Amino acid sequence: MKIAVLKERRADERRVAATPETVKKFVGLGVNVVVEAGAGTGAFIANSDFQDAGATIAANADAALIDADMVLKVRRPIMADEEAEDGAQFDGGNELAQMRKGQTLIAMLNPLIRRADCDAYAAAGVDAFAMELMPRISRAQSMDVLSSQANLAGYKSVLDATEEFNRALPMMMTAAGTIAPAKVFVMGAGVAGLQAIATARRLGAVVSATDVRPVAKEQVQSLGANFVMVEDEETAQAETEAGYAKEMSAEYQKKQAALIAETIAKQDIVICTALIPGRAAPILVDEAMVASMKPGSVIVDLAVENGGNCALSKMGEVVEVDGVKIIGHSNFPARLAVDASNLYARNLYNFLAPHIDGENGSLSFDFEDETVSGVCLTKDGAIIHPMLSKKE
Ligand code: NAI
Repeated sequence: MKIAVLKERRADERRVAATPETVKKFVGLGVNVVVEAGAGTGAFIANSDFQDAGATIAANADAALIDADMVLKVRRPIMADEEAEDGAQFDGGNELAQMRKGQTLIAMLNPLIRRADCDAYAAAGVDAFAMELMPRISRAQSMDVLSSQANLAGYKSVLDATEEFNRALPMMMTAAGTIAPAKVFVMGAGVAGLQAIATARRLGAVVSATDVRPVAKEQVQSLGANFVMVEDEETAQAETEAGYAKEMSAEYQKKQAALIAETIAKQDIVICTALIPGRAAPILVDEAMVASMKPGSVIVDLAVENGGNCALSKMGEVVEVDGVKIIGHSNFPARLAVDASNLYARNLYNFLAPHIDGENGSLSFDFEDETVSGVCLTKDGAIIHPMLSKKE
């Protein structure tokens, strides 16, 4: 088998889908690896580092793809609609068109939102695997790209907040008097939120957090933060079997908004991480809540790519409204491209290695294995994932 590792072409993407460490492991299993020149630049990996690990370097994507069986990428390929829409956001054209029938694509494909892309993969005869759909079972934790990337995003969101915040986070007792600790409120206590709590605590802030899943309470408290939530009959059912949150009723949202309005006015930094898979992120912070915050406060909206938890956040921008800074950077994990690439590349290796024959480097997916059937979108020209055939 030959694996091609392509350079990411989106302007905000610095990560890469393989590292010298994973290339060496693939080569050790008898796999040929070809890396597009410059693929590692954003993560400070030189072509020569990949070569030393046993890869060959191709001058461009076409050369890397020519006889590849499998393509490893971080983000979904740039499709025809985006190529027409916004050529300035990436370097190069329709990436799916560069691939050919029979090739396997492994990446974060955002299939529940980009549903039409899945038809395009099937039409192109590309077997596409969306790593975000990895089932949350213990055995698959080492393959869980959402967790590996969200953890880093949660950490970075707090550092990004401190950069825009004109005060210190810890309490300081100095000869000139005492500085009060900053108050940080984390909305959504999943993987990113829990890491944001831990990071803000390490920096000395007084932290509180909220979620709709009651199980989050113990996790938040074990990190030394205060948990606030509207708990009622609905929250008892708020978690799906997969561990994700459901969309809450209008009545619950109203009660939650009252609690947030009361809490947020006292906060210095708000970190928004609330997501619902396959849907727009819930709006939790409205205009009036932003207006209630003190000038100099900071909101970081990690959910901005899914529409945002704050009604005023703008993707890719830091906006200021009445002295409150709202950070809406796109692609937080790519802001820590070295660690994010290392973890993502390992996630891909851990997923693929069990299906590779170490004697001859050939790959044969076991579709009885839920880590395979859970992420495979298309096979032999047809859409096969049950979540994609379901009508909402
Ligand atoms: P996520 O990224 O989909 O959502 C982030 C957080 O936002 C979640 O905690 C969610 O409950 C919360 N949220 C959604 N709507 C909200 C609302 N209206 N108000 C307040 N909060 C809201 O979730 P993530 O971080 O990917 O994972 C959720 C949980 O899955 C984790 O806490 C963990 O318990 C579990 N998990 C299990 C794994 C495994 O067993 N292999 C691996 C990773 C996570």
